[in-house]
Amino acid sequence: MSDKKYIIAPSILASDFAKLGEEVRDVLDAGADWIHFDVMDNHYVPNLTIGPMVCKALRNYGIKEFIDVHLMIDPVDELAQSFIEAGADLISFHPEASKHIHRSIHAIKDKGCKAGLVYNPATPLHTLESVLEDLDLVLIMSVNPGFGGQSFIHGSIEKIAQVRKMIDALGKDIRLEVDGGINKDTIALASEAGADTFVAGSAIFNTENYEQTISELRSKIV
Ligand code: DX5
Ligand code: ZN
Repeated sequence: MSDKKYIIAPSILASDFAKLGEEVRDVLDAGADWIHFDVMDNHYVPNLTIGPMVCKALRNYGIKEFIDVHLMIDPVDELAQSFIEAGADLISFHPEASKHIHRSIHAIKDKGCKAGLVYNPATPLHTLESVLEDLDLVLIMSVNPGFGGQSFIHGSIEKIAQVRKMIDALGKDIRLEVDGGINKDTIALASEAGADTFVAGSAIFNTENYEQTISELRSKIV
Protein backbone atom coordinates (compact mmCIF):
# COMPACT_ATOMS: atom_id res chain seq x y z
CA MET A 1 0.00 0.00 0.00
CA SER A 2 2.90 2.30 0.75
CA ASP A 3 6.45 1.90 -0.55
CA LYS A 4 7.79 3.03 2.77
CA LYS A 5 8.68 0.28 5.19
CA TYR A 6 7.81 2.29 8.29
CA ILE A 7 5.20 5.00 8.61
CA ILE A 8 4.98 7.67 11.32
CA ALA A 9 1.43 9.02 11.63
CA PRO A 10 1.03 11.91 14.08
CA SER A 11 -2.41 12.01 15.71
CA ILE A 12 -3.84 15.50 15.36
CA LEU A 13 -5.80 14.92 18.55
CA ALA A 14 -2.79 16.32 20.39
CA SER A 15 -2.31 19.29 18.03
CA ASP A 16 -3.46 22.86 18.61
CA PHE A 17 -6.95 22.83 17.05
CA ALA A 18 -6.96 26.64 16.92
CA LYS A 19 -4.36 26.42 14.13
CA LEU A 20 -4.99 22.93 12.77
CA GLY A 21 -4.04 23.54 9.12
CA GLU A 22 -0.71 25.03 10.14
CA GLU A 23 -0.02 22.21 12.62
CA VAL A 24 -0.70 19.55 9.98
CA ARG A 25 1.51 21.33 7.43
CA ASP A 26 4.31 21.72 10.00
CA VAL A 27 4.28 18.09 11.12
CA LEU A 28 4.32 16.84 7.51
CA ASP A 29 7.16 19.20 6.63
CA ALA A 30 8.96 17.84 9.71
CA GLY A 31 8.99 14.34 8.21
CA ALA A 32 5.68 12.75 9.16
CA ASP A 33 4.35 10.27 6.56
CA TRP A 34 0.61 10.25 7.28
CA ILE A 35 -1.86 12.28 9.31
CA HIS A 36 -3.86 10.24 11.82
CA PHE A 37 -7.36 11.72 12.20
CA ASP A 38 -9.21 10.59 15.35
CA VAL A 39 -13.00 10.70 15.16
CA MET A 40 -14.92 10.31 18.44
CA ASP A 41 -18.69 10.43 18.87
CA ASN A 42 -19.37 10.50 22.65
CA HIS A 43 -21.23 7.21 22.18
CA TYR A 44 -18.75 4.54 21.11
CA VAL A 45 -16.12 6.40 23.17
CA PRO A 46 -16.59 8.94 25.96
CA ASN A 47 -15.26 11.93 24.01
CA LEU A 48 -16.20 14.09 21.05
CA THR A 49 -13.81 15.35 18.39
CA ILE A 50 -13.98 16.24 14.70
CA GLY A 51 -15.94 15.13 11.65
CA PRO A 52 -15.75 15.08 7.84
CA MET A 53 -16.02 18.87 7.49
CA VAL A 54 -12.66 19.22 9.23
CA CYS A 55 -11.11 16.61 6.92
CA LYS A 56 -12.45 18.55 3.93
CA ALA A 57 -11.12 21.79 5.41
CA LEU A 58 -7.62 20.29 5.57
CA ARG A 59 -7.88 19.29 1.89
CA ASN A 60 -9.06 22.80 1.02
CA TYR A 61 -6.12 24.20 2.98
CA GLY A 62 -3.84 22.31 0.58
CA ILE A 63 -3.01 19.14 2.50
CA LYS A 64 -2.42 16.48 -0.16
CA GLU A 65 -0.70 13.85 1.98
CA PHE A 66 -2.26 10.61 3.21
CA ILE A 67 -5.09 11.04 5.75
CA ASP A 68 -5.61 7.99 7.97
CA VAL A 69 -9.08 8.29 9.51
CA HIS A 70 -9.66 6.33 12.72
CA LEU A 71 -13.39 6.10 13.37
CA MET A 72 -14.31 5.60 17.04
CA ILE A 73 -18.01 5.84 16.23
CA ASP A 74 -21.10 3.64 16.21
CA PRO A 75 -22.70 3.22 13.69
CA VAL A 76 -19.96 3.28 11.05
CA ASP A 77 -21.33 3.22 7.50
CA GLU A 78 -22.91 6.61 6.88
CA LEU A 79 -20.08 8.69 8.29
CA ALA A 80 -17.52 6.49 6.55
CA GLN A 81 -19.07 7.55 3.23
CA SER A 82 -18.96 11.21 4.29
CA PHE A 83 -15.27 10.86 5.10
CA ILE A 84 -14.58 9.37 1.66
CA GLU A 85 -16.27 12.40 0.09
CA ALA A 86 -14.22 14.64 2.40
CA GLY A 87 -10.95 13.20 1.06
CA ALA A 88 -9.93 10.39 3.44
CA ASP A 89 -7.32 7.97 2.06
CA LEU A 90 -7.93 5.19 4.56
CA ILE A 91 -10.78 4.59 6.99
CA SER A 92 -10.53 2.19 9.88
CA PHE A 93 -13.32 1.25 12.27
CA HIS A 94 -13.86 -0.97 15.29
CA PRO A 95 -15.55 -4.30 14.40
CA GLU A 96 -17.91 -4.17 17.37
CA ALA A 97 -19.30 -0.85 16.06
CA SER A 98 -20.58 -2.43 12.82
CA LYS A 99 -23.31 -5.05 12.56
CA HIS A 100 -21.96 -6.28 9.21
CA ILE A 101 -18.21 -5.94 9.15
CA HIS A 102 -17.69 -7.38 5.67
CA ARG A 103 -20.30 -5.02 4.23
CA SER A 104 -18.76 -1.99 5.97
CA ILE A 105 -15.28 -2.84 4.67
CA HIS A 106 -16.51 -3.25 1.11
CA ALA A 107 -18.66 -0.13 1.19
CA ILE A 108 -15.42 1.76 1.89
CA LYS A 109 -13.32 -0.11 -0.69
CA ASP A 110 -15.95 0.10 -3.42
CA LYS A 111 -15.45 3.87 -3.37
CA GLY A 112 -11.71 3.52 -3.92
CA CYS A 113 -10.74 4.21 -0.31
CA LYS A 114 -8.56 1.90 1.79
CA ALA A 115 -10.05 0.07 4.77
CA GLY A 116 -8.79 -1.03 8.17
CA LEU A 117 -10.09 -2.76 11.29
CA VAL A 118 -9.19 -1.66 14.84
CA TYR A 119 -8.84 -3.87 17.91
CA ASN A 120 -9.02 -2.53 21.47
CA PRO A 121 -6.87 -4.03 24.23
CA ALA A 122 -9.73 -6.34 25.28
CA THR A 123 -11.25 -7.04 21.85
CA PRO A 124 -10.51 -10.57 20.62
CA LEU A 125 -9.09 -11.01 17.12
CA HIS A 126 -11.51 -13.68 15.90
CA THR A 127 -13.33 -11.36 13.45
CA LEU A 128 -10.03 -10.85 11.66
CA GLU A 129 -9.84 -14.41 10.38
CA SER A 130 -12.68 -14.03 7.88
CA VAL A 131 -11.83 -10.54 6.59
CA LEU A 132 -8.06 -10.09 6.88
CA GLU A 133 -7.51 -10.59 3.15
CA ASP A 134 -9.95 -7.75 2.38
CA LEU A 135 -8.09 -5.24 4.55
CA ASP A 136 -5.37 -2.69 3.81
CA LEU A 137 -4.49 -2.20 7.47
CA VAL A 138 -5.00 -3.67 10.93
CA LEU A 139 -4.77 -1.25 13.84
CA ILE A 140 -3.96 -2.53 17.32
CA MET A 141 -4.90 -0.12 20.10
CA SER A 142 -2.31 0.04 22.85
CA VAL A 143 -4.63 2.19 25.03
CA ASN A 144 -8.39 2.17 25.42
CA PRO A 145 -9.74 4.57 22.79
CA GLY A 146 -11.14 7.94 23.75
CA PHE A 147 -8.25 10.09 24.91
CA GLY A 148 -4.72 11.03 23.96
CA GLY A 149 -1.86 11.03 26.44
CA GLN A 150 -2.56 7.64 28.07
CA SER A 151 0.07 5.05 29.00
CA PHE A 152 0.93 2.20 26.67
CA ILE A 153 -0.73 -1.11 27.65
CA HIS A 154 1.98 -3.74 27.37
CA GLY A 155 -0.46 -6.58 26.69
CA SER A 156 -0.87 -5.15 23.18
CA ILE A 157 2.62 -6.39 22.27
CA GLU A 158 1.41 -9.98 22.17
CA LYS A 159 -1.54 -8.96 20.01
CA ILE A 160 0.74 -7.16 17.54
CA ALA A 161 2.89 -10.30 17.30
CA GLN A 162 -0.19 -12.44 16.67
CA VAL A 163 -1.43 -10.20 13.86
CA ARG A 164 2.06 -10.02 12.35
CA LYS A 165 2.02 -13.82 12.07
CA MET A 166 -1.43 -13.77 10.45
CA ILE A 167 -0.40 -11.13 7.89
CA ASP A 168 2.85 -12.91 7.06
CA ALA A 169 1.03 -16.22 6.66
CA LEU A 170 -1.37 -14.57 4.22
CA GLY A 171 1.48 -12.89 2.37
CA LYS A 172 -0.48 -9.76 1.42
CA ASP A 173 0.50 -6.10 1.60
CA ILE A 174 -1.39 -5.21 4.78
CA ARG A 175 -0.03 -2.60 7.17
CA LEU A 176 0.08 -3.25 10.93
CA GLU A 177 -0.50 -0.05 12.86
CA VAL A 178 -0.24 0.62 16.59
CA ASP A 179 -1.98 3.53 18.34
CA GLY A 180 -1.78 4.83 21.91
CA GLY A 181 1.07 5.74 24.25
CA ILE A 182 3.70 5.52 21.50
CA ASN A 183 6.93 7.27 22.50
CA LYS A 184 10.67 6.68 22.09
CA ASP A 185 10.58 3.61 24.34
CA THR A 186 7.33 1.96 23.27
CA ILE A 187 7.92 2.43 19.53
CA ALA A 188 10.88 0.06 19.86
CA LEU A 189 8.73 -2.57 21.60
CA ALA A 190 5.90 -2.28 19.08
CA SER A 191 8.22 -2.47 16.08
CA GLU A 192 10.03 -5.46 17.54
CA ALA A 193 6.66 -7.22 17.78
CA GLY A 194 5.97 -6.52 14.11
CA ALA A 195 4.20 -3.15 13.81
CA ASP A 196 5.21 -1.05 10.80
CA THR A 197 2.94 1.99 11.16
CA PHE A 198 3.09 4.12 14.31
CA VAL A 199 0.56 6.66 15.55
CA ALA A 200 1.90 9.19 18.03
CA GLY A 201 -0.04 12.15 19.38
CA SER A 202 1.32 13.71 22.53
CA ALA A 203 4.85 12.36 21.98
CA ILE A 204 5.08 14.58 18.88
CA PHE A 205 2.76 17.55 19.38
CA ASN A 206 3.81 18.17 22.99
CA THR A 207 7.37 18.82 21.88
CA GLU A 208 8.89 22.00 20.47
CA ASN A 209 10.81 20.56 17.55
CA TYR A 210 8.65 18.17 15.50
CA GLU A 211 11.46 17.34 13.09
CA GLN A 212 13.83 16.28 15.85
CA THR A 213 11.11 14.26 17.63
CA ILE A 214 10.03 12.43 14.47
CA SER A 215 13.60 11.53 13.56
CA GLU A 216 14.26 10.35 17.14
CA LEU A 217 11.13 8.17 17.00
CA ARG A 218 12.20 6.79 13.63
CA SER A 219 15.65 5.98 14.96
CA LYS A 220 14.15 3.76 17.68
CA ILE A 221 12.34 1.49 15.21
CA VAL A 222 14.06 -1.90 15.23
C1 DX5 B 1 -6.93 7.35 21.22
C2 DX5 B 1 -6.58 7.78 19.82
C3 DX5 B 1 -5.11 7.94 19.60
C4 DX5 B 1 -4.49 9.00 20.45
C5 DX5 B 1 -3.02 8.78 20.52
O1 DX5 B 1 -8.29 7.11 21.30
O2 DX5 B 1 -7.05 6.82 18.90
O3 DX5 B 1 -4.84 8.16 18.23
O4 DX5 B 1 -4.73 10.27 19.99
O5 DX5 B 1 -2.50 9.72 21.38
P1 DX5 B 1 -1.20 9.45 22.23
O6 DX5 B 1 -0.10 9.18 21.27
O7 DX5 B 1 -1.03 10.70 23.01
O8 DX5 B 1 -1.48 8.23 23.10
ZN1 ZN C 1 -6.34 6.87 16.77
